[in-house]
Amino acid sequence: MDTSETMQSPTDVAQKPIVYVIGLTAALAGLLFGLDVGVISGALPFIAKDFGAGTVTQEEIVSALLWGATIGAVISGFLSKLLGRKNTLLIAAVVFALGSLGCAVSTSPGILIGVRVFLGLAVGIASFTAPLYLSEMSPQSVRGAMISMYQLLITIGIVLAFLSNTYFSTYAAIHGIVGGHWRIMLGVLVIPSTIMFIAVFFLPKSPRWLMLKGKREEAEEILKSIRRTEGEIAVELAEIEEDLALKQSGFSLFISNKYFRHAIFLGICLQVIQQLTGINVVMYYAPKIFKIAGFATTAEQMWGTVLVGCINVMATFIAIAFVDRVGRKPIMYAGFVIMGISMSLVGIMFKIGVETHHALSFVAIGALLLFIIGFAMSAGPIIWVLCSEIYPLSGRDLGITVSTATNWIVNGIVGVTFLTLLEDFGHGNTFLLYGGMEVLFILFFLAFVPETKGISLEKIASNLLAGKRLREIGR
Ligand code: BGC
Repeated sequence: MDTSETMQSPTDVAQKPIVYVIGLTAALAGLLFGLDVGVISGALPFIAKDFGAGTVTQEEIVSALLWGATIGAVISGFLSKLLGRKNTLLIAAVVFALGSLGCAVSTSPGILIGVRVFLGLAVGIASFTAPLYLSEMSPQSVRGAMISMYQLLITIGIVLAFLSNTYFSTYAAIHGIVGGHWRIMLGVLVIPSTIMFIAVFFLPKSPRWLMLKGKREEAEEILKSIRRTEGEIAVELAEIEEDLALKQSGFSLFISNKYFRHAIFLGICLQVIQQLTGINVVMYYAPKIFKIAGFATTAEQMWGTVLVGCINVMATFIAIAFVDRVGRKPIMYAGFVIMGISMSLVGIMFKIGVETHHALSFVAIGALLLFIIGFAMSAGPIIWVLCSEIYPLSGRDLGITVSTATNWIVNGIVGVTFLTLLEDFGHGNTFLLYGGMEVLFILFFLAFVPETKGISLEKIASNLLAGKRLREIGR
């Protein structure tokens, strides 16, 4: 039997506490990701008033971060290979801090757009590097939960941003303030960025990256501090060496190896799927959806949005609890069934017309919250988990670059098409469309997605390169 399977049982989770400290620290990148994604919806009305910005300019201010993030994801493959995962996270923290300050002092929409592209670089770099680093530092028996911590912090960042949005908009309404508060909302993010820089500074380097750079002794030293037994360390080092025996890397591996191309295809599809669940329709437009559902006051819409954020955080714990016990795929199936049913229900309520009966408003919002649970327990964390597990070490930077950039591109497309869809296609039909897509995605999982619970990254890689079908590379 394979050593990687006998070494640890998947349920054996008593790891050294330092492993979790490292996980939480690296996952701080997710907090900043979430804060930056969540803060803009609340800051935008103030910015618009202050600068007298029209719809197009507002859209540019919002999407600037997404395009920056796409560029960030693309360059971070190169950065993380050259400078290492830890140094790349440090760079992200610096860009986060400078970008947050830059936003706070922007004097025109043009400058703000430029600074948000710059800030987006940090979000993109962080969204690439954190799951990669986490996957490489984690013992295999808790790898799923460790990478899910990154998603947990994204969701906490989003909810904190929603809360700050609600606080500032309420405060501004009470005191009759027209603009100005957005500078604090955006600038305050310099604090978590600085905390992230200091915390990441003390993180160890990834042993896999060190091996990639030929620094075996240093890699071994780090493994000694984060693994429990000599046996585990020996097996891990041997597996990494075996993985590195593959002489080609990155793009040349992509050209020459069709199995690696298959993994790239899988990563792209997984991130397209994550975004086409429609999650960011809810994250970016929650107040609007509450309005469509019949909740007319700003307070109802803002607090409703905070509720969405809180449920997003809480349901992520379902994934953390089960991803390494039950496995990735069962949770994905459950989550997508829930999302399919709930999105369709929202669509049906909007088609019937929530104005016909107030109870329907509550059914629609109940279904929306159920959708969030479905996403947070499955696609939210697990797509990031899978995308950091399916590539061989020599192609991991390229693979995760491509999948992460895909995430940001489709994120942008969903964001800019939602309002048009609502107008041209109708409220009900738009949500039914998203509901229907979840069913197609389940079929995709059945056909192509491997179960990667309790198996080493190197074993997954050797299965892939030996030509096993994608669905089987986790066995
Ligand atoms: C997605 C983001 C989304 C967030 C919501 C992440 O996994 O990549 O696009 O906004 O989850 O929690």
